[in-house]
Amino acid sequence: MASAPLLVTGAAGQIGRRVLDLLLAAKAGPIIATTRKPEALADYAARGVDVRKADFDDEAGLVAAFKGAGRALLISTDALDRPGRRIAQHLAALRAFEKAGVKHVVYTSFVNPHPATKVLISGDHRDTEAALAKSSFDFTILRNNVYTDMMLMSLPNAVASGQLFDARGNGAAGFVTRDDCARVAAAALAQDTGGRRTLDVTGPAVLTSDQVAAIAANVTGRPVAHISIPPEALQEGMVKHGQPAPVADLLVSFDLANQAGDFAVTTDTVLKLTGKAPQSVEAFLTANRAALLPK
Ligand SMILES: NC(=O)c1ccc[n+]([C@@H]2O[C@H](COP(=O)([O-])OP(=O)(O)OC[C@H]3O[C@@H](n4cnc5c(N)ncnc54)[C@H](OP(=O)(O)O)[C@@H]3O)[C@@H](O)[C@H]2O)c1
Repeated sequence: MASAPLLVTGAAGQIGRRVLDLLLAAKAGPIIATTRKPEALADYAARGVDVRKADFDDEAGLVAAFKGAGRALLISTDALDRPGRRIAQHLAALRAFEKAGVKHVVYTSFVNPHPATKVLISGDHRDTEAALAKSSFDFTILRNNVYTDMMLMSLPNAVASGQLFDARGNGAAGFVTRDDCARVAAAALAQDTGGRRTLDVTGPAVLTSDQVAAIAANVTGRPVAHISIPPEALQEGMVKHGQPAPVADLLVSFDLANQAGDFAVTTDTVLKLTGKAPQSVEAFLTANRAALLPK
């Protein structure tokens, strides 16, 4: 275990809280948690976590917030409202880590952030990875695959209607649960590794939408057929059903990247770093069966 404090940014988010729970359970640390909303982590402060305020949009306050940390988990933010905002946040965090004396950065990236990917938000991850490569830090880049949890947004409608619409064709993804991503992040932060590594964090299998539909049907006992439609039609349908156009564009871009094979990656990273195999899509959907069924 590392002796200098372990720091988690964005600690009030879903991954952040889970990482704190795992570090506390493993008695790793001491732990520094930074967040825009320290009051939201009062329960963690009561358990001995040093909770500090840090907003990546306010660079002036970051060095003091990060002071004393040896290893830091940089959780990519969800600031996707305007192009350029998120990468500016990440670069501000990295500059402050350096000034604060952080030695090793763990970063939550995204699978296959190559220049030709269709995923509209992958440039932020690519540029953050490039900044790490140019920096003086040791690092662990965790290229998380698509969260299995995202299925809870699309599958309830598919189960209700019997039709799973997307623009993925026969594309496939190595869906990984948010919880497994958190377990890997906690392990990468707490293990006293040096050097630089980039790891794909994935579930146990690559699944097409045909296979996901079949699993959803099996888990719920209701028929679900996968229907792949052209991306333009999917985008139009989403907007008609109330999605803002930029959100629809982003969601469609994930489908295009899926179809192009960008997410068709599986590795043993989860097992290797945590000692436990990743949760399958079937096990995840079975555990969340109630959320799939019509109310
Ligand atoms: N692989 C995938 O399929 C997938 C899916 C969704 C998201 N993601 C990415 O993974 C990240 C973590 O996932 P999650 O499920 O934990 O998301 P989440 O619950 O939506 O959390 C959003 C995160 O962004 C942080 N954040 C937002 N604005 C910030 C700012 N100005 N300064 C510092 N931090 C800021 C939040 O920190 P505080 O609230 O504590 O300040 C929080 O950690 C997301 O932010 C996103 O980049 C990946």
